[in-house]
Amino acid sequence: MGRVPAPARLVVLVSGSGTNLQALLDACQDPAYGARVVAVGADRDDIEGLARADRAGVPTFVKRVQDFSTREHWDRAMAETVAAFEPDLVVLAGFMKLVGQEFHDRFGGRVVNTHPALSPSFPGMRGPADALEYGVKITGCTLFVVDDGVDTGPIVAQRAVEVADDDTVESLHERIKGAERGMLVETVGRMAREGYTVEGRAVRFGGAGSSR
Ligand code: GAR
Repeated sequence: MGRVPAPARLVVLVSGSGTNLQALLDACQDPAYGARVVAVGADRDDIEGLARADRAGVPTFVKRVQDFSTREHWDRAMAETVAAFEPDLVVLAGFMKLVGQEFHDRFGGRVVNTHPALSPSFPGMRGPADALEYGVKITGCTLFVVDDGVDTGPIVAQRAVEVADDDTVESLHERIKGAERGMLVETVGRMAREGYTVEGRAVRFGGAGSSR
């Protein structure tokens, strides 16, 4: 009988409601998914994302920027804590902080972030609002490998979402989040099961020299 490969170890970082995290937790219930969430971290207390991890029996940790003397110290503490869980992949799922140099040095190429816009349009914290203000008819979501820019890293997956005439920022963001959860679950699963390579801006699944 062949050896069954161990599921990929995911550490997920959140800052809010954690519906994307929940989608991953649900997907990981199936052993065939090929990944499991080994820890959930946050930059703030008392958020639904942490409660979701608690309910799933997944260990959590919180590192608040204001509890550290410098941003670099926060970044180092975050990186060390994440490293202790030996992740194959770090998933930023609604994590509202930019990670720093230490984090890039330790996990470069193994950190993905989900963003509620179609990159390279509308980077930053206001993706849905900026898309609505601009008047685009199609926006969406992007999963990318984190680099040291703001939502600029190599793109792993995207989903398009139509903008409705009567959309508010909230209604548009909710529709995007629906697409985002499907994108995240499908793509992280493929990264875990097939491996992936990053060459320049090209991200490909499978293949020799895989990052996993
Ligand atoms: C998601 O739409 C995610 O793309 C966005 O926050 C939301 C989190 O939702 N992240 C960013 O805007 C990061 N710049 P969730 O907490 O319900 O998963």
